Amino acid sequence: SNHSIAVLVGSLRADSSNKKLARAIERLAPKDVSFQYADIGALPLYNQDDEQPLPEPVADFKALVNAAHGVLFVTPEYNRSIPGVLKNAIDWGSRPYGKSSWAGRPSAVIGTSPGATGTAMAQQHLRNILAGQGSPTLTTPEAFLQFKEDLIDDQHAFTNAGTRDFVQGWLNRYLEWVRKLSA
Ligand code: FNR
Repeated sequence: SNHSIAVLVGSLRADSSNKKLARAIERLAPKDVSFQYADIGALPLYNQDDEQPLPEPVADFKALVNAAHGVLFVTPEYNRSIPGVLKNAIDWGSRPYGKSSWAGRPSAVIGTSPGATGTAMAQQHLRNILAGQGSPTLTTPEAFLQFKEDLIDDQHAFTNAGTRDFVQGWLNRYLEWVRKLSA
């Protein structure tokens, strides 16, 4: 059966390595799984005064997530945590109170950075946030990818077979998780 995955990329820049990673993961997905990319750069800064009614970009964002079977976070690490733009999106998604878009929705976290720790600390912070929202997050395998310019080619393919197989195995486990929890 068909499954849709909402994808949140934690970097807004055009040449983002995490955007490239998201596209490379999408390429590994089976045909019956569709990736829907959320435009978190279109969201205003969270302000509780603006919750009623929700601004249009926020309503669109929540609709995209609410229609998905699972949510995939592909994010860089900024100053040992997740970027503010991603936290802003998560905060909007958690509102209004009692209407969290994350609750019960199976999630996974992955990311890449040029440093050897490959977003490990940002991922740990993100897991904590998602636990508080009641989103069941894939625990293992974990995936910390050190970014090198030739990690992913212009066709969004991993250039290294070992890396590709590792990410394929990770994705398969996540999609099993989504199928189980959205059944
Ligand atoms: C970084 N970077 C970074 N890298 C890391 O591994 N740990 C960190 O704590 C930080 N902190 C950090 C803060 C800020 C404000 C910036 C702009 C960058 C480097 C970061 O991993 C690198 O710029 C990535 O290329 C960002 O991801 P995208 O934009 O390529 O997806």
